[in-house]
Amino acid sequence: MASRFVVFLALCAAVAAITRVPLTKVTHTREQYKFKAIGEHLKKKYIPDYIPNNDAFNEGLSDYSNAQYYGPITIGTPPQNFQVLFDTGSSNLWVPCANCPFGDIACQLHTKYNCQKSSTCTATGAPFEIQYGSGSMKGVVDNDVVCFSHDKTWCTDKTQGFACATAEPGLAFVGAKFDGVLGMGWDRISVNNISQPMDQIFANSAICPQPLFAFWLSRDANDVANGGEMTLCGTDSAHYQGDIAWEPLVSEDYWRIKLSSVKIDGTEYTNGPVDSIVDTGTSLLTGPSDEIKKIQKKIGAIPIINGEYEVICSHVPKLPNITFNLGGQDFVLQGKDYILQLSNGQGAPTCLSGFMGLDIPAPNGPLWILGDVFIGRFYSVFDNGNKRVGFANAAKKA
Ligand SMILES: *[C@@H]1O[C@H](CO)[C@@H](O)[C@H](O)[C@H]1NC(C)=O
Ligand SMILES: *[C@@H]1O[C@H](CO)[C@@H](O)[C@H](O)[C@H]1NC(C)=O
Repeated sequence: MASRFVVFLALCAAVAAITRVPLTKVTHTREQYKFKAIGEHLKKKYIPDYIPNNDAFNEGLSDYSNAQYYGPITIGTPPQNFQVLFDTGSSNLWVPCANCPFGDIACQLHTKYNCQKSSTCTATGAPFEIQYGSGSMKGVVDNDVVCFSHDKTWCTDKTQGFACATAEPGLAFVGAKFDGVLGMGWDRISVNNISQPMDQIFANSAICPQPLFAFWLSRDANDVANGGEMTLCGTDSAHYQGDIAWEPLVSEDYWRIKLSSVKIDGTEYTNGPVDSIVDTGTSLLTGPSDEIKKIQKKIGAIPIINGEYEVICSHVPKLPNITFNLGGQDFVLQGKDYILQLSNGQGAPTCLSGFMGLDIPAPNGPLWILGDVFIGRFYSVFDNGNKRVGFANAAKKA
C-alpha cells in the first residue's frame, strides 16, 4: 500500500515537472523576407566584431524580422507579462524598460518592465549594451524573479539578472510582435556574463528532474493560432515519434554540434563533418556559400537577388529529399520542408528556397545554421545537463 502511494506520488511529480510554454507564430509575406538583412543580422550574431553593412537595414526591417516563434514569460512581483523571442542563438534576456525615452518608438509600442512596480526588483545600475546589425540596444541590468509559467513554479529567485532596454536599435524592433528576446545559449557568449534564467531552474531538481528544454514548431500554415510549444524540464512525447538521436555539443557557447553530412541522392554536399549551430532565432537554413550554391542548383532553384533563390511552386512535390546526418541518424527534409511558400499579398504564392549561403570565417566558422526550416521538421531537444542536442521526427498533429 505504502509503496503504491509512493509510486503515485512519483507519477504526480513526473507530470508536474514539466512546463509547457505555448508559442505564437508570425506568418510573413514575400516582401518581409530580405536575405541581405537576415544575412547581416546572422553575421553580426556569429562573427565577433563584425561591422554590418547598414544599407541592408535601410528598409526598416528588424534584425529578427525573419523570426517566427515567440511566447510568454513574466518578470517581477506581481508578475509583469512579456512576449519574448526564444532564441537559442544568443544568451541574454532583455525587455523594453519603463523609463525608455518617449522618442523610442520600438519601446513605446511594446510592453515595458517597471522595476518600481515590482517588490522583488533590484536596480543594479550596471550599464548594458548588445550590438545588433542595425544599431545597439542599450540599457541597465535589473535583478528580479523571471517565470516561465503563471503558476510561479518555474521561476528564478529575485537575483536573476536581465537587461532593461532604454534604447533599441532604430526602427529595427518597431514592427516586432514580441517585446524582447530571451537568449537560450550558453553563459560563455552572454554579454556582461549574466547567467540565463534556465540555469537556476535547471539547478532545482525538485521542480526540474531533467535540465533541458525542447521545441516543437508548427509548420502548418493553415493553423496560425497554434505556433508550437517550448517545454522546460522535460520533453513532450505528444510532439515527436520514434527515438531521439543525440549529438554531443562541440563547445558550450552556442548549441554547436557536428553535422556529419548533407546529401542529395547519395552525393555529399559537405566536405566531411562540419560545425552547425541550432538556432531557433532564425527561420532559414544556412551553410557555406559554395556548398549552398551547389544545393540550390541541384534543387533547380533560380537566383533572384541578394542570395535569394526561387523555385516554381508546382515543382515542390517533385524536389529531391535532402538528408542531414546528425547523431548517427539520417534526418530527411523534403521539398515542402525546405521551401518557404510565401504570399505576395495577392495572387499565387512565391516559393523561396529556405537555404541561404553564409560564410562565417574562423574561429566561429565555417558552420551551418540550422534554423526553423530544420527545427520545424524535427522535434529538437536542448539538453543542458548532458551537453547535447537531440532530434526526432516531429508528430504531425498534437
Ligand atoms: C562569468 O561567471 C562565471 C560564473 O558566475 C565565472 O566563473 C566566470 O569567471 C565569469 N567570467 C567573467 C569573464 O567574468
Ligand atoms: C523522400 O522522403 C520521404 C520520407 O522520408 C519518402 O516518403 C519519399 O519517397 C522520398 N522521396 C524521394 C524522391 O526519395
